[in-house]
Amino acid sequence: MVKTKILFVCLGNICRSPMAEGVMLHLLDQEGRADEILVDSAGTSAYHQGELADARMRQHASRRGYRLTHRSRRVRTDDFYEFDMIIGMDDSNIANLHDMAPSPEEEKKIYRMSDFAVDKVFTHVPDPYYGGDAGFENVIDILEDACKGLLARI
Ligand code: 4NP
Repeated sequence: MVKTKILFVCLGNICRSPMAEGVMLHLLDQEGRADEILVDSAGTSAYHQGELADARMRQHASRRGYRLTHRSRRVRTDDFYEFDMIIGMDDSNIANLHDMAPSPEEEKKIYRMSDFAVDKVFTHVPDPYYGGDAGFENVIDILEDACKGLLARI
């Protein structure tokens, strides 16, 4: 079976995008669709290259039954050829992705996470890094909603 390949992208690849990856993997598993879709995540920066997701993000995730095992990596040019959808979390991620895209054809693969919102109203996934617990909970709330919408559209 040909897999649809989805790459979630944020700045550091230690909070929002690994969380999106974790939520999506969980949903795919629940729906028995794990063979259909390949999921990965990356950052527009290499600040946290090789690190697990932020300990706070992992703790909030684990309370809802998600286990985040991804190691941070930077987006690379090959990702634009390899993946079918490259989904940024906020305006800055999306602007950076457009700058990095190797061709107009590959640029068409760039989406924003809020495009897939179903029940929640949000324009971007806010960066929780410098905030408190509520920010991390909010990230999971809106990613659960958008991943549901994304899966319904694939
Ligand atoms: P993320 O959050 O982009 O959701 O992974 C951040 C992680 C690290 C930094 C900023 C945002 N940082 O500045 O190191």
